[in-house]
Amino acid sequence: MTALPLPHPVPATTEGTTIPYPDEPVALLQLDGADPVEAASAVYREVRRGRRVVAVACGHPRAGVRLAAALDAIGVAAVPPPPGEAVLRPGVTIVPGPETVHGRLRSGPARVLRIALAGCGVVGGGVLPRLLADVRFEVVGVLVRDPDKAREPAIPAGLAVSDPAALLAREPDVLVEAISDASTGLALIRAALTRGVDVVSANKQAVGADLPALTALARAAGARLLYSASVGGGAPLVETVRRARTHGAVVRIEAVLNGTCNFILNRLAEGRSFDDALAAAREAGFAEADPTADLTGLDAAAKLAILSHEALGGRLVVGSVSREALARDGVLPDGRVRQLARLDVHSGEAGIALRAVDDDPLFADLADEWNALRVTTGDGRVFTARGRGAGRTPTAESVWADLVDLAEAGRCPKENAAGPCEPAASRR
Ligand SMILES: NC(=O)c1ccc[n+]([C@@H]2O[C@H](COP(=O)([O-])OP(=O)(O)OC[C@H]3O[C@@H](n4cnc5c(N)ncnc54)[C@H](OP(=O)(O)O)[C@@H]3O)[C@@H](O)[C@H]2O)c1
Repeated sequence: MTALPLPHPVPATTEGTTIPYPDEPVALLQLDGADPVEAASAVYREVRRGRRVVAVACGHPRAGVRLAAALDAIGVAAVPPPPGEAVLRPGVTIVPGPETVHGRLRSGPARVLRIALAGCGVVGGGVLPRLLADVRFEVVGVLVRDPDKAREPAIPAGLAVSDPAALLAREPDVLVEAISDASTGLALIRAALTRGVDVVSANKQAVGADLPALTALARAAGARLLYSASVGGGAPLVETVRRARTHGAVVRIEAVLNGTCNFILNRLAEGRSFDDALAAAREAGFAEADPTADLTGLDAAAKLAILSHEALGGRLVVGSVSREALARDGVLPDGRVRQLARLDVHSGEAGIALRAVDDDPLFADLADEWNALRVTTGDGRVFTARGRGAGRTPTAESVWADLVDLAEAGRCPKENAAGPCEPAASRR
């Protein structure tokens, strides 16, 4: 892969997302600091829509601090405006509101969505407690390999199943698919969509296998397929590509898409050995027992296939993406190295390679498990995003945002299915 000059300077960047142009829309949110996780979710959903956010943190003396901490756990940086400076800034600004708020009346949902959760590991285990605590959702089943395994969080009695068919037999409205097995995940997604069941998936190997076919299946069945968490964990990368595409034809995508490799490369840069760096990635919960897909670039290639579909439509076959592996005995370029995914429409290049990025601030200082993305359109516009690319909290947040979008949108007419959710006047 060769580094090409950017047609435009990179616009102002905040941790978590970038506002490409100052005319980007603004969301003004009044938030109850007594529940910082819910408040952070509301902010995150606006950030991934590409909006600047002014968050008024109410209801607690430390509401702003608590909200900032909850946002940091997702990978969204938020700051109070410096004294004397404008409240309306790029990214997320937190301003203090009244310390007492009158009890918010939350009306019951028009319709409770029946949820089948597939997988209760790092990601599914982050989503389950939120589903159980939210009156908009009813969990009807949880698919795992071993229903008898002790796990945290525990699966409530009667919900655990080990047979995918038994899960769908419980007649869910939505399948949340977060299992680590690509072929079972793909079969489950297909079966759910065929029945007209909406799907939220974090499984990039399943979704990335043939997204055009899955999208067509969803459309034919009048179901929705959402997969934000499958690329970038909590970083809104799918949304950023989608947004770029609405502004013009996408000509180039450059991205760091694998948090495990980024974590390892940062440790190698500190002088640690490969085995030491891999062990640290495992200890931090980012590398799996078998990290082959991460290290060989297969994981990033599946994610690039998904982004390619968002940018260009059509199918990028994962196997056709050139890959350079990060290996124990491999030789890295000098400087700050990243596992860089690149798609170039003009040259036809689609590849994952280890590249020095010292002169590129978007990628050079990317900490730990963070991911980043730059999308360039034909007229030279540049859209960027950054965020936490792996881990329970940010990934579950991304799944949650898809779910809330579904709950708030209601069912779309068939011709509009499979695409992003827009609020509908009525729920199904
Ligand atoms: N972890 C992350 O940071 C992250 C970020 C973005 C996307 N993802 C994606 O999200 C998905 C889940 O990742 P994870 O980290 O949560 O994995 P995980 O911790 O290994 O959990 C996987 C879950 O799937 C279940 N499972 C696996 N194969 C199954 C099968 N054949 N039948 C039924 N259940 C099966 C496991 O059941 P048991 O518990 O009984 O073993 C487990 O509950 C993966 O596709 C991953 O690529 C993960």
